[in-house]
Amino acid sequence: MLFYFSATGNSLYAARKIAEEDNEQIFSIPELIEENSCEFTLKPGENAGFVIPTYYYGIPTIVADFIEKLKLNDVQGHYVYVVMTCGTTTGNAAEMFAKLMKKRGVTVSAKYAVVMVDNYVPYYPLPGKDIQKICLDNADRMLADIQQKIAAKETGDFNTVKGMLHGFGTFIAYPYYKYGRKTKDFHVNDSCNHCGICERDCPVKAIRIVDSKPVWEKKTCVLCLGCLHRCPKAAIDYRNTTVKSGRYMNPNAGLKKERV
Ligand SMILES: Cc1cc2nc3c(=O)[nH]c(=O)nc-3n(C[C@H](O)[C@H](O)[C@H](O)COP(=O)(O)O)c2cc1C
Ligand code: SF4
Ligand code: SF4
Repeated sequence: MLFYFSATGNSLYAARKIAEEDNEQIFSIPELIEENSCEFTLKPGENAGFVIPTYYYGIPTIVADFIEKLKLNDVQGHYVYVVMTCGTTTGNAAEMFAKLMKKRGVTVSAKYAVVMVDNYVPYYPLPGKDIQKICLDNADRMLADIQQKIAAKETGDFNTVKGMLHGFGTFIAYPYYKYGRKTKDFHVNDSCNHCGICERDCPVKAIRIVDSKPVWEKKTCVLCLGCLHRCPKAAIDYRNTTVKSGRYMNPNAGLKKERV
């Protein structure tokens, strides 16, 4: 079985790619939390995989929340792995994941990372479509290698994109995320056509359409930027920094039809 969280489709695409090898069932973490369905029993020989994006050199808060609720029965001796998707570098994100799993009695056997298109547009605008394509083609090669290693149940740390001083990077950067994530920083402009996609797809139900406009009802959220990227009118901005940054959805993830 394979668990994933994805806002703009990179991790969803990577999860599907990995799952197709063994015809594994994949589960959306927000949906499992919403359905309060967090207990699983592994079949003999079955793997437990996690594919998640890197946030501020750490893991999304919703994944940390999920780990706290997750009960994996009969997990001893099973191959458990994590694949961090990222824009450039993961820092100690996979180690953070493994540490939280350890607290729940689960040993992570292998850590992987794959570089995809960076969807964190408040700092840097998106690269052009040609660069995005090169990046995603390269990601396919990284994923093929990961697939092989998972098929062979290789154990170890295979993450080559942690960056320099990765532990320090996470120590410095992650608190800005963990204690930030304020929804007051999101604004919507007049081009909103009140389609409701932002409300529908927010993984923590932080948004409600009121008088035909999104209102962020929760004070904090996951900061996944899904609402910002997936709005068909590009009507959502974060801190007045993203108006000209471009919007991204992984072109191979088929996101429009699905809830992530
Ligand atoms: C809040 C936030 C923080 C991010 N921080 C990092 C980071 O520390 N390092 C990195 O390489 N990419 C970072 N990214 C980029 C994402 O990890 C990357 O684009 C990921 O593949 C997105 O996955 P998704 O499309 O499944 O949502 C960040 C993205 C967001 C939204
Ligand atoms: S997704 Fe965009 S256009 Fe649709 S309701 Fe939300 S802000 Fe408005
Ligand atoms: S409000 Fe937007 S950024 Fe925050 S969790 Fe919901 S979809 Fe993600």
